[in-house]
Amino acid sequence: MSHMITTHDLGKTYGDRTVVANLDLRVPEGCVYGFLGPNGSGKTTTMKMLLSLVRPTTGEIRIMGRPMERSTRRELLGHIGALIETPPSYEHLTGRENMRLVKRLLDLDEGRTTRAVRTVRLQDHLDKRVRDYSLGMRQRLGIAMALAREPRLLILDEPTNGLDPAGIEEIRRLLAQLAGDGTTVMVSSHLLGEIDRTATVLGILGEGRMLFQGTRDQLLARSTPDVLIDTPEPERATALTARWSAYRDGPAVRLPGLDRTGTARVVAHLVHERVDVHGVRRDAQSLEDVFMDLTGGRGL
Ligand SMILES: Nc1ncnc2c1ncn2[C@@H]1O[C@H](COP(=O)(O)OP(=O)(O)OP(=O)(O)O)[C@@H](O)[C@H]1O
Ligand SMILES: [Mg+2]
Repeated sequence: MSHMITTHDLGKTYGDRTVVANLDLRVPEGCVYGFLGPNGSGKTTTMKMLLSLVRPTTGEIRIMGRPMERSTRRELLGHIGALIETPPSYEHLTGRENMRLVKRLLDLDEGRTTRAVRTVRLQDHLDKRVRDYSLGMRQRLGIAMALAREPRLLILDEPTNGLDPAGIEEIRRLLAQLAGDGTTVMVSSHLLGEIDRTATVLGILGEGRMLFQGTRDQLLARSTPDVLIDTPEPERATALTARWSAYRDGPAVRLPGLDRTGTARVVAHLVHERVDVHGVRRDAQSLEDVFMDLTGGRGL
């Protein structure tokens, strides 16, 4: 698999405070990479390092297999479009005027900015001033500005922040479409639900360190879902399985994160104690649950 971004031991320290450490990013080409982590976990700092807006304290960055260094920086950055924190548009100008500035600044032909505006479906709002745009429209304009150079890699820092569900859905669809067209998209969020199924690869940051990196399925496979036991005597069954941290869950007994061996032991024990076991099932585990485990219960 070829990678759009790889880093080795990437880190950033401010004074004596390490905010990003030992980061080995692996962002496959052509995917939507969801970069997740609670507030303050280092997402923006990492993205800024990738964009040479913040100088790394340690480590190295490769874009398309090539090291980011003095001699390559300009060219490599030319393949990257980015939207970090707030959209960079001028409030008092219209969408069209903002796009014209981008076109001049990057010396692009008209076709590119027109395509970028169509991609984000903003063509009907170009003559409005940005100050009269909704938050969703501003984000889309920001993305159009980042897309104008037709980058191989698009880096978006919390593009769904503050959007309503329809706006979030719109951005999700846009990201999936871009990846489908071959653009690699790295998108951050502190809310798992906002990236949801759009991201095929996830990187989860906690206090500046990578807690998990891989596909959604790999993430789900890492943790063991709870076991639920259906029995007509849940009270007694719970008491009998207290050493496996059992607790009552409605008419059933819940055994958190119990593996196969544990499950076999619990069932054998209950049967031995003459408790009727009517059913044993695994709870469906959501990504949110896995994240809770990874982030030590703080969630994202
Ligand atoms: N210039 C700076 N000087 C000192 N500390 C900084 C600086 N920039 C960021 N930090 C600290 O680094 C940590 C990580 O910040 P960062 O903005 O990268 O997190 P984040 O994951 O993007 O958070 P959020 O979800 O709130 O956007 C925070 O504790 C922040 O206060
Ligand atoms: Mg941030």
